[in-house]
Amino acid sequence: MRAGGNDPIREAARLLADRRNAVALTGAGISVESGIPSFRGAQGMWAKYDPTEYATLHAFMQSPRKVWEMLSEMVSVCGGAAPNPAHKGLAALEEMGIVRAVITQNVDGLHQAGGSRRVIEYHGNMEELICVYCWKRYPTRERWTPGSVPLCDCGEILKPNVVLFGEPIPWLAQEQAEEEARTCGVLVVIGTSAQVSPACDIPRVAKEAGAVVVEINPEPTSLTASVTDVHVTGGASEVLDRLAKLIRKTGSGPLEY
Ligand code: APR
Repeated sequence: MRAGGNDPIREAARLLADRRNAVALTGAGISVESGIPSFRGAQGMWAKYDPTEYATLHAFMQSPRKVWEMLSEMVSVCGGAAPNPAHKGLAALEEMGIVRAVITQNVDGLHQAGGSRRVIEYHGNMEELICVYCWKRYPTRERWTPGSVPLCDCGEILKPNVVLFGEPIPWLAQEQAEEEARTCGVLVVIGTSAQVSPACDIPRVAKEAGAVVVEINPEPTSLTASVTDVHVTGGASEVLDRLAKLIRKTGSGPLEY
């Protein structure tokens, strides 16, 4: 890890302003301040729902109604959430020409709602349902109501178009994410425990291709001692808000935030 003097945020701002050409990789932590629980940790979704019973494709095929108990909670929480200053800060950095893409593991659509234009949804999106038998798709809001189990016209139970454990990453998203990681100057990793592959391999791909890795997380992760160059310890909203303002103050950004 590189010494950022004693202010890693300033070091991160300097790297972003100097190198530009940045890509962000985000996880559940960036949406915690929008009221969406993360997955791991004491308050996480997996503390309440065992992922082996509620979040694998196998579990969905075996007991779709049971899995919808967990999915219903996720659809409701994501549906009621709004972007926070972290999402908006990333969109401002995109507007300034500093961040060129966001690779997100999140399925909540908050990056787009926060103004980001180039968003790679690595684990899909909750706003669409898909039939795993006839592959027909529907907007979630048209087929799902709280407590219901949505059905396809073919009669089968629909699944949100998100990646459950045991499912492959959407091909195009994987290709695009790897291309962005291989060609970025700075990878900003925000709010992920980096425990789930292949998403957790993206920082290594970027590092091996010569990028500097900046990590924003209140906690250290498996990346911190191995891949991360600058670790900014803090919540995503406060840190990204300050980063966007710091960089704008250095005259890199045309836009008032
Ligand atoms: N700001 C930034 N980071 C935060 C904040 C915050 N306010 N609050 C928590 N975090 C950090 C935690 O310290 C943790 O490292 O966010 C991380 C969340 O980790 P996980 O819950 O493991 O979520 P994530 O890494 O996104 O999970 C990856 O696993 O369960 C699957 O498919 C699911 O996409 C998900 C994947």
